Formats: sequence, structure tokens, C-alpha cells
Amino acid sequence: MKKLIVGNWKMKGSLAANESLIQALRSGMPTAACNVALCVPSVYLSQCQALLAGSAIDLGAQDVSAHESGAFTGELSGAMLREFGVRYCIVGHSERRQYHAETDTLVALKAQRALASGMTPIVCVGETLDEREAGQTDEVVKRQLAAVIHANGHCISEIVVAYEPVWAIGTGKTASVEQAQQVHLVLRSQLRAASSQADRIHILYGGSMNAANAAQLLAQPDIDGGLVGGASLKAPDFLSIITSAP
Ligand code: 13P
Repeated sequence: MKKLIVGNWKMKGSLAANESLIQALRSGMPTAACNVALCVPSVYLSQCQALLAGSAIDLGAQDVSAHESGAFTGELSGAMLREFGVRYCIVGHSERRQYHAETDTLVALKAQRALASGMTPIVCVGETLDEREAGQTDEVVKRQLAAVIHANGHCISEIVVAYEPVWAIGTGKTASVEQAQQVHLVLRSQLRAASSQADRIHILYGGSMNAANAAQLLAQPDIDGGLVGGASLKAPDFLSIITSAP
């Protein structure tokens, strides 16, 4: 399966910075690259759609409403995102679970809404440092993924999963290759129990992935790509991660 490398810009960027970043990525993209996508802040979707036109890089959003339409001030529907060519949509990022009190049930509904709108949800799961130290890692990620499996039935083979240990996000601390592969295998086994197509579901690793550690992580049998925060904002670093995807 071709690897998938996704940049998550979070709440970073500007009209000028986006333009120079995307131009640098376009001119530096290797010809036989893996699949690549950029999840940009919503206000820049239109700009980035134009900047990415005709390139091999797909467009993504960072969230979607669980509702189809209606009186939900500040929210964006799947149909709206689709109008701007959005192919991927992150749901359940730990920053949204933490700062916006998103529950497993809400995340599962968002994944459902993304699928119904024709987008691929990138469902994030991951444990906090306290949970890891209490030996609860497997239990936490399985609970988070179970909600999404339960709500999405046979469509589960259409999602992307991202394992992002919360303690590794933006901290410079990467999960060791062994720690990451171990959790990825737990998630793969859970997906296998739910779908005969589980082996073609991308399970991405996220959390301080960078140019120096990407190759080793991406060489693991159950690590099918990366969800990259900080390093996706620097063209040489992001290109080097893309190039290291076997
Ligand atoms: P960093 O790569 O900056 O640690 O962020 C990871 C992340 O949260 C991607 O969604």
C-alpha cells in the first residue's frame, strides 16, 4: 500500500506564508511520491485549493461539523468543505478532544458525517502521558476507535486512522519505533476484527515526526504514513519526510 503523508497546519499560516510553502512543496515534490495531503485552516481552503490545482497534493480540513446543516454558528458542514475540493478531514484530534471537549461519540459522528459527504476522515486516537504511565494505552486507543467502528459499520474500511500519543505532540518527544509499531498493531487487529479490508486501511503515526525520524517510523509494518504538525510547515523538512516514505 502506498504511504500517506499528511500535513496538519493547525492554527498556523497566512496568505503569504501559505503561498510560498505550497510553491516550494510543488517544485520539490519527488515524481514517484507517496500520497500527500495538507490539512489547512478553513479560511485558507479556497486559496490552497487554487495553489494546489493540478498538483499531486490533496487538500484536507482539520474538522467538520457532526450536523448536516442548520443553526450551528461557527461550524462547517461536510458539503461546504466538499465545495472546496476537500478530500480528507481530520476528526478527533487530541487538541479538539482536550480544548473543545469532544467525546468519542461526537468524533464518531463527525467521521460518519465526513464519509457521508464524500470525504475521508482521518480519525485521531492517542493516550495522554498519565494514561501511558498507568498502563492504559491499549485500552484508551481501543475505546476511541471502537466508537468510530460502532458508528460506521462496513464503511470503516474507508477511514484513515492516526495514532497520535498526546505526550509526543509538539513536544519533540517521539514515540519509539517499537512503542509506535506496538500500538499500530493493536489498532490493526481491532480493525481486522471489524473489517475484511483492514489491511488496506492507512494507520498514520503523528507526534513530533520529523526529517530525522520519519524513515525509521515509516519502515514499520503497520505504520502506513504520518500526520505531521510542526515539520509540515517547513518545506525542506516536509519534503524530506515525503521522500523517506518507502
Ligand atoms: P507535531 O508534529 O508538531 O508534534 O504535531 C503532531 C500533530 O498533532 C499532527 O496532527
